Amino acid sequence: MYTKETTQKLQQQTNGFLKQLKEGNIDLAAIELLRDVLRFHEYRYYVLNDPLIADYEYDSLYKALEKIESANPKSITPDSPTQRVAKGLTKDFPTVQHLVPMLSLDNSYNSEDLQDFDRKARELTGLDMIEYCVEPKFDGGSISLVYENDMLVRGATRGDGVEGDDVTPNVKQIKSVPLSAKFSDYGLQQVEIRGEVLINKKNFEKYNAQLIEEGIPPLANPRNAAAGTLRIKDPQEAAKRNLEAFVYHVSFYTLSKGKKIPDALNNHAASLELLWNLGFRSPQKEKKLFKGIEGVIQYCNQFEITRDDLPYEIDGMVIKVNDFALQDKMGMTSHHPRWAIAYKFKARQATTKLTGVDFQVGRTGAVTPVAKLEPVAVGGVTVSSISIHNEDYILEKDLHIGDRVLIERAGDVIPQIVKSLTELRTGKEKKIVFPKTCPVCSSILVKEAEEAVWRCSNMECPAQVVERIIHFVSKDAMDIRGFGDANVRKFYELGLLKDIPGIYTLNFENIGQLEGFGEKSIEKLKQAIENSKQQPLHRLIYALGIRFVGETTAKTLAQAISHLLELQKFSQEELQNLEDVGPKVGGSIYHFFSNKKNIDLLLQLEKLGLNFNNEKKQLSTVGNLAGQTFLFTGTLPTLKRSQAEAMVEANGGQIVSGVSAKLNYLVVGEDAGSKLDKAKKLNTIKIISETEFLQMIK
Ligand code: IVH
Repeated sequence: MYTKETTQKLQQQTNGFLKQLKEGNIDLAAIELLRDVLRFHEYRYYVLNDPLIADYEYDSLYKALEKIESANPKSITPDSPTQRVAKGLTKDFPTVQHLVPMLSLDNSYNSEDLQDFDRKARELTGLDMIEYCVEPKFDGGSISLVYENDMLVRGATRGDGVEGDDVTPNVKQIKSVPLSAKFSDYGLQQVEIRGEVLINKKNFEKYNAQLIEEGIPPLANPRNAAAGTLRIKDPQEAAKRNLEAFVYHVSFYTLSKGKKIPDALNNHAASLELLWNLGFRSPQKEKKLFKGIEGVIQYCNQFEITRDDLPYEIDGMVIKVNDFALQDKMGMTSHHPRWAIAYKFKARQATTKLTGVDFQVGRTGAVTPVAKLEPVAVGGVTVSSISIHNEDYILEKDLHIGDRVLIERAGDVIPQIVKSLTELRTGKEKKIVFPKTCPVCSSILVKEAEEAVWRCSNMECPAQVVERIIHFVSKDAMDIRGFGDANVRKFYELGLLKDIPGIYTLNFENIGQLEGFGEKSIEKLKQAIENSKQQPLHRLIYALGIRFVGETTAKTLAQAISHLLELQKFSQEELQNLEDVGPKVGGSIYHFFSNKKNIDLLLQLEKLGLNFNNEKKQLSTVGNLAGQTFLFTGTLPTLKRSQAEAMVEANGGQIVSGVSAKLNYLVVGEDAGSKLDKAKKLNTIKIISETEFLQMIK
């Protein structure tokens, strides 16, 4: 798509634009070049998975484009990178007819099936040997894309194959789908292509974790997540899920006047290359050509072994007769083309019996039901229990003890129950009764309004205490190696450890008497505990396990203070002034620091020698902004809030959390709200723009 030369040119251009942004603004005259630069970086990131600039650099260029466009609305083009995400809700998805029916594929499951397919193909074509193109079978939601005069005009779901839903607003925000592509270079006027929309495994896990946190039932697999996202009514929400798309088939085209069919549309491999060259993510690198079926079989087997190494799910391979003239000769049934077949990998679904339910109590007191299953092998691992998340999930999936259930393990993703096979019920199945009291400490369970999760109300509940300690020592928190879940549980049960401060006063003589603890391992554990006292402040904040405070929020909080106990003084409003802290997160932090028991715990930890200081913050007393306090409000034209705040600190300034007499500078962006009003009233605060701010640190 981009030659080495163009790549270098665009990269130079990028650096030029970034420099211009530091000094001022980008000119309207450069708008199309700026768009090309952004398209290029989208391509590097989303198609090649090989970015050349940092996210914040991309963001600042994107914001600069938004700024020029909002000042010059007439300059906006439908394929501008800013036009991907529509504002407002989609009312409904109109039904549209595909230009060509979207047929399905016939399936094969073993080498005999493939040999059979090859034999029939040879019979139908009258040839001795056929050339096949083999590529992955992507496991997502199918889409068709229509381009007219190089512009994306429609994206639709498969529907019943003849008609689908027009989901263009959601398709447009998939960054690996170009909003425009130079089909005209090949003499093509209207083109319909088919592909698959996916969500990669990492983003799927992230999305499910977020659903669980919010008490919403998670989705069974990335396929459902991708297909569901295509039909979501809020394109901005759809954009957050980071869909990806592969395209693998040109299903229809018309030629521009006087143009001939391009060579690239003589065979399948060349058509994948054409799509790749136009900036699409086609299986250009994954596809392979074989003369005869034997190589095909080997390639399929090879791919099956390494399928877990891919960042997205595939459920098999697709084998296509390469030559389009032969494809035409072979034709199709009403259901599938005769020139292609899917080779399905071994199922990662299995059915088994749900034999009971355990209720586990987590660190925040959340009671999670876990289904006990008759052990069953799915995709190479034996599964004997699966989380069934919460009461609503049980009701929605209509799960009963004694049911046969269909389970699925999507790649290395945690297994999920897809459904209960209700038609196989005998009448002996029992309802799952959710307990009213904590299964560990018998305290009353409570459920907050609009929450799906029941929680144990007793902070001292042994299950919660143990889980809090496990979280505290875990790798992403205080990273105390050699502790591990099992040791925490063992020490707790034996009375050697009863709370978090207890980690730092462990009696190693007693531990030395336990089986499996030699001098060496004790020494290591001692050292790891000692070292943890010096962990940076954000790790300690994360380790405290405050609800909704993940690693990012912990970093934001650490940035805002120079000593942990300063958080006691923050009002809810001040907390919400911090980046990405909304009422829910702010409320939880406030609640934590208002609780005397928590403060006592913190005082104990401080006494034990844990690092409570944000050293970086204390060091930064030299620089252009030394001694000055800053606050940002509204959307800044080029900088991200966190970037700007880091710049203040790097230059010796300090970020404060709210508008007060202590504030020297309020830097205002677009849509600044109450903070600006308040600052104006106070009269002592200098209100400046981002450009003025950048001038100050120049
Ligand atoms: S070719 C007429 N190629 O699998 C052409 N399909 O189970 C038919 N799929 O409906 C499609 N990866 O949604 C083709 N590389 C690939 C594919 C693929 C996934 C989907 C497609 C199809 C389904 C059949």
